[in-house]
Amino acid sequence: MSKTFDLDATLEAYRGRGREALLPALWDVQGARGSISPADVQQISYILRVPEADIYGVIGFYTLFHEEATGRRIIRVCSDPTCALAGADELLHGVCSRLGISEGETSADGEYTVEHSPCLGLCDYAPAALVSERGEPDKSLPQVTPEALLGDWTDLYFRPAGDADSVMLDASLADAPQSLSQYGDYTALRKAIRGMTPDEVIAQVEASGLIGRGGAAFPTGLKWKFTRAAPGAVKYVVCNADESEPGTFKDRVLMEHRPHLLLEGIALAAYAVGTGKAYIFIRGEYPKATAILVEAIQQAEAQALLGENIMGSDFSLDIEIRRGAGAYICGEETALFEAIEGKRGFPRMKPPYPTTFGLFGLPTAANNVETICAAPLIINRGADWFRSVGAEGSAGPKLVSVSGHVGRPGVYEIAPGMTLRHFLDQVCGGVIGELRAVLMGGAAGTFLLPDEIDVKLTFEDLRAAGSTFGSGAIMVFNQTADLRDLLKRLGRFFQHESCGKCFPCQLGTQRQVEILERLDAPHKDDRERLLDVGMTMTEASLCGLGHTAGIAVMSAIEKFPQLFESNGKHHD
Ligand SMILES: Cc1cc2nc3c(=O)[nH]c(=O)nc-3n(C[C@H](O)[C@H](O)[C@H](O)COP(=O)(O)O)c2cc1C
Ligand code: SF4
Repeated sequence: MSKTFDLDATLEAYRGRGREALLPALWDVQGARGSISPADVQQISYILRVPEADIYGVIGFYTLFHEEATGRRIIRVCSDPTCALAGADELLHGVCSRLGISEGETSADGEYTVEHSPCLGLCDYAPAALVSERGEPDKSLPQVTPEALLGDWTDLYFRPAGDADSVMLDASLADAPQSLSQYGDYTALRKAIRGMTPDEVIAQVEASGLIGRGGAAFPTGLKWKFTRAAPGAVKYVVCNADESEPGTFKDRVLMEHRPHLLLEGIALAAYAVGTGKAYIFIRGEYPKATAILVEAIQQAEAQALLGENIMGSDFSLDIEIRRGAGAYICGEETALFEAIEGKRGFPRMKPPYPTTFGLFGLPTAANNVETICAAPLIINRGADWFRSVGAEGSAGPKLVSVSGHVGRPGVYEIAPGMTLRHFLDQVCGGVIGELRAVLMGGAAGTFLLPDEIDVKLTFEDLRAAGSTFGSGAIMVFNQTADLRDLLKRLGRFFQHESCGKCFPCQLGTQRQVEILERLDAPHKDDRERLLDVGMTMTEASLCGLGHTAGIAVMSAIEKFPQLFESNGKHHD
């Protein structure tokens, strides 16, 4: 069978679907060929009826798509803070020097291309890499060495850190994802379909006090209520599994270990808002979680727990997985909708909000993986139980991803209300060395100093302390950490990920990184320049990326003013 014939057959499956099939079609072509050639673009354009120029725009937007020929294997080494602490730069240089190439190049034998990558969501296994081999599923590699990266890889299953008494994570899941028989036959969904109206499901979720775990902390019951009430017969549920915030990997752990908890939660959300179609948008860098979810959907459909006429009822649900292609901005819900629609991930102006104008312009409930996973627990155990775990404004168990200088990095389930100090000392193995700073909430977060860690881990306490829970990332740095280097990496991250749609963020992230790059020998007034750029981005940007791109830097200016002083090396 020739490659051209394969392409024809592959694309034929998308005929008639139009633009929304663009990302899946590009993934298929690139998976088989390693890159997407002009002839491929021509054919995709013909089948999907999308102009070639638009297809090139999409390929260029997403970093995991390649127009140029690449090596048979592409090695991407994480370059973000936690992996940097664990020697990621040395790893990248080690691989490149063994191949006799520079970063971004392909080895002479056409075997390897080596690139650095934004956070791969494997901070608990730093330093990490992602390897794409033509014709094979991608593989995430933990704690790698140059030798291991250039050798043969085994596809690993990542063990959860787990807590003994957790309800979202399950410490017993040491060696494999939880199977359907271990999980059970979707008892919460059964309870809902057999005995609750959609409005009653929404009322339970509202009464539970569940607020979104994706960063914006919006009440979930209210979101479902608005979506259900929005006019229109066609609606959607979208599960946001894009998880690209540096330092955040809780959703990966949930998907890899408890796929059926997530699927049951999506089914509950769909039943509640009144739709038969849901999407899981998962970042392209999570091949393992993607494969596990694909298999779990098949298992559930085979048992009539998903698909047509679920449990013999008239409720049907099709869950489709969409793979992202390397763009942090696609975690922003409206950019995510654009990606599913086959476009570049440019955020939309809000309002209108997704609950009335979401995916394909229709009412949509978009929720984070962890938020959705809470729904079956609430329906099974009740809203009162959920409220009894945690604090007044932070109901329910909460997952946090902890990385950096701690004894046991990983994902932990906590009852909000414990102090950060208790969490660090008693739960995740203590700080290694002398604590210098904690970055709360990921790249868009704020720093806490050693004398500030008695703050309670709740949304409201962190907010009152001028900090944030954000996506639940806790990055810990001891006295050996180079905080200037950390800030440079955060600056590069935002510069790379800014989509460029609005000027304050497009230009602000560039100016910010330029100033951060010269932090070791700053120009006069650089501190004021950074504050000016940071405030402008916060106040004037179009979306949350720009609003938060200067937050960590401004927090560092407040908490570590000495980092911005000249050290005697001063340029005017
Ligand atoms: C730049 C940016 C990236 C985001 N990334 C994610 C993400 O990876 N996962 C996520 O659930 N929410 C992310 N969000 C928040 C989403 O826009 C949205 O608020 C969330 O998915 C809603 O779900 P929730 O109510 O369950 O939290 C991001 C927001 C911004 C501005
Ligand atoms: S704030 Fe940044 S990421 Fe958001 S729309 Fe503007 S340029 Fe794009």
